[in-house]
Amino acid sequence: MSIFDLPLAVTARAGTNIALVKYWGKRDPNLNLPATGSLSLTLANFGSETTVRFAPDAEAPEGGDRISFDDAPAPPRFAERVRRFLNLVRQETRVGLPAEVATRNSVPTAAGLASSASGFAALALAASRAAGMKLAPRELSALARQGSGSAARSIFGGFVEMAAGERSDGSDACAQALLPAGAWDVRLVVAITAEGPKAIGSSQAMELTAKTSPYYAGWLQAVPQDLAAARAAVLTQDLVGLGRVAERSAMRMHACAMAADPPILYWNGATLAAMETVRRLRAAGTGAFFTVDAGPHVKVLCTARDAELVEPALAATPGVLRTLVLVPGPGAEVLREERR
Ligand code: DP6
Repeated sequence: MSIFDLPLAVTARAGTNIALVKYWGKRDPNLNLPATGSLSLTLANFGSETTVRFAPDAEAPEGGDRISFDDAPAPPRFAERVRRFLNLVRQETRVGLPAEVATRNSVPTAAGLASSASGFAALALAASRAAGMKLAPRELSALARQGSGSAARSIFGGFVEMAAGERSDGSDACAQALLPAGAWDVRLVVAITAEGPKAIGSSQAMELTAKTSPYYAGWLQAVPQDLAAARAAVLTQDLVGLGRVAERSAMRMHACAMAADPPILYWNGATLAAMETVRRLRAAGTGAFFTVDAGPHVKVLCTARDAELVEPALAATPGVLRTLVLVPGPGAEVLREERR
């Protein structure tokens, strides 16, 4: 047997991303097609590293794919999402084998810091390569989207725009790079305001919002303008312009979710206190703008220099547990390919 007959183990990494124009709602839940476009920043220091190998001996003792997370058997719900994703790759190729998947995360899982974004971006790249596919970045993005909508954006680095697309097969619902990570030295300072996983996952919350919020139609109508304004601000590196869109996009997303039945409220007291800190910084002349995802943490966009002011101000805000400073980073990349 030659070394080329051995299965290929591919390790890929991807950084998580934070949306500045939010994705909230699907036009097709089966293909995970977003109802609107979105715009985000991919980050360097928080992400996922995933190794995938398709092989007859990869099968788990209980049958099916063997999936680990941070060196322990993956929690059942996570494992189920990964298995469904691997089935997509198996359908696309002739690889009918079980897979061994090992994921390591440097993102606080399910805490509103978008671990599914980096997780499915790294998985899409590692699994497609291990199965012998060589996808163009846009195709890889469309594949990652089927794992999680925000993952489509983590294929690219820096500022990224995701298209809602029009085709029913979803082939045009993919992301593209707007501005590379090194081009604009901004920061996202995160104020962590609670421990533990979020109350309701984003897929379920989006579905409930679309079904029951009377503001959902207004949300869908507002996004294209926000997207155009954010895109123009990124391309001209206009922090104030981008920050203002980011704040209103986040507020509109949360207002829409709060109006669902039953209501969806991700914030706590410290979320509001951190928003107040940002307003106070701005009144004193610092260019700082917040966004909030499907969780209670507040993420503040500012220049690298102003992060030195913003970070201590957030850390001193009542209820803020700790802060993180996030830096723009590259898109998903293959780290290793080994025959085993
Ligand atoms: C609030 O990408 O996690 O972070 O496609 O159902 O997996 P699924 O949703 P997901 O939703 C992200 C929601 C958000 C906004 C955003 O990242 O655009």
